Amino acid sequence: MTKPFPDSPSYTGHDAPSRLEVDLFDVEIIGEPPRLPNGTWYRLGPDPQYPPLHGDDFFISGDGMMSMFRFTDGYVDYKSRYVRTERFLAERKARRRLFGDYRNPFTDDPSVRGKVDRAQVNTTAWWHAGRLLALKEDSRPYQVHPDTLDTIGRFDWNGKLRSETVTAHPKNDPETGEMLFFGYEAGGIATTDIAFCVANEKGELVREEWFQAPYCGMVHDFAITRDYVIIPVYPTIAKLDRIKAGGLHWVSDLSQPTWVAIFPRKTGVKDLRWFRRPGCHSYHVINAWNEGPRIYLDQCVSEINPFPFIPDESGAPYDPRKAATYPTRWIFDMSAPGDTFEERRLTNVFGDVPRIDERRTGAPYRYFYMGVVDPTKPIHKSGPVGGGFNHVGKIDVQTGKADLWYGDDNCGFQEPIFVPTGPGEDEGYVLAVIDHYDQNRSDVGVFDARNISRGPVATLRLPMRLRLAVHGCWVNAT
Ligand SMILES: [Fe+2]
Repeated sequence: MTKPFPDSPSYTGHDAPSRLEVDLFDVEIIGEPPRLPNGTWYRLGPDPQYPPLHGDDFFISGDGMMSMFRFTDGYVDYKSRYVRTERFLAERKARRRLFGDYRNPFTDDPSVRGKVDRAQVNTTAWWHAGRLLALKEDSRPYQVHPDTLDTIGRFDWNGKLRSETVTAHPKNDPETGEMLFFGYEAGGIATTDIAFCVANEKGELVREEWFQAPYCGMVHDFAITRDYVIIPVYPTIAKLDRIKAGGLHWVSDLSQPTWVAIFPRKTGVKDLRWFRRPGCHSYHVINAWNEGPRIYLDQCVSEINPFPFIPDESGAPYDPRKAATYPTRWIFDMSAPGDTFEERRLTNVFGDVPRIDERRTGAPYRYFYMGVVDPTKPIHKSGPVGGGFNHVGKIDVQTGKADLWYGDDNCGFQEPIFVPTGPGEDEGYVLAVIDHYDQNRSDVGVFDARNISRGPVATLRLPMRLRLAVHGCWVNAT
């Protein structure tokens, strides 16, 4: 490589590209060997293979790096591999970056523009019906081999999928075995098309219905309950003219309302109702459920888009206080007319990347785990969603109480995940990558989910730094 990475925040420090494909056999375990079931923690994140085409780019604009911690009889092995997308292979052949700015195909090199799929699939490792998928919301998935992490290829449910995109936040229904998902910009870049889809327990695409959003807003996550589908649309807006002119994909316009589409799972989008509130933002749903016509939706909500690189249409400067993502409950009454809903905060701490015991997806639940930001303590990365978590937290949504662990002034955390070891909702372990900013190195903390503040019961000590992986999943060996 003759062109170095830029000396900018997206490419330096803990966000410096790693570019390492690793096989680390028998990871060093400090403390009690965790009594986890045999299984694998898959994670996916952006790791740029080459420097940006046009000077600088966002840290999330990187090639998908799939990694896994495999737990076998008390031992742990680690592996990471790039997802060999068409884009990755084209750039590897050229030995340079060919694709332009984040979500802007009009900035691509003419040799690939409109000719090579620009999918990076760098956000979520997802498991359904025996398949490991690499997901990013602006493109279709890639399938990856669950043992070798070799790329199997682009995945579109045997050619059945019409949507050009699939969310990085599908939901697996623990009762039916279905995977429910959606795609926005489903008909192409900056379109208002949203596709809602269902794959059955065998992994066959059995349903795809489209509807129109009020504007082309960001739809990062959604929720299901036993009876309903909830798709919130936030006023972080894509405009084709701006993108065509080489501008940003996203600009936040808080003069527009936040819209929430709700429709019954049984009858689908023909019975869709829109609710609304003043403009705000959320990236991540915690969980949702319904009691008859009353729907409860819990998510991490902020007043503005919490990513500092997404500007405000009005020119308002980035305000970290307004970017704080507070766990918040929205309550909808499907038996009442109107388009408003109730709202209340669930706890006094804020943070993001919330995860629950996924056996309770779409059902009543009590606990979730997330990266927590305490602004009075050192923060090593900006924006709640881009990291910057200085605590691992467990929140009790019945009491609002937070059980927190703070490592030290030089560490931060990536997305925690819950691994059940018994039937109880918090009976199990929480796994979270601990980034040591003073050592250019990462570990994995293994926490007792019933006592987070005790600190890790075991630490998987790694000899290298793990660049941010966005989202992962746990898959039992059985
Ligand atoms: Fe996400």
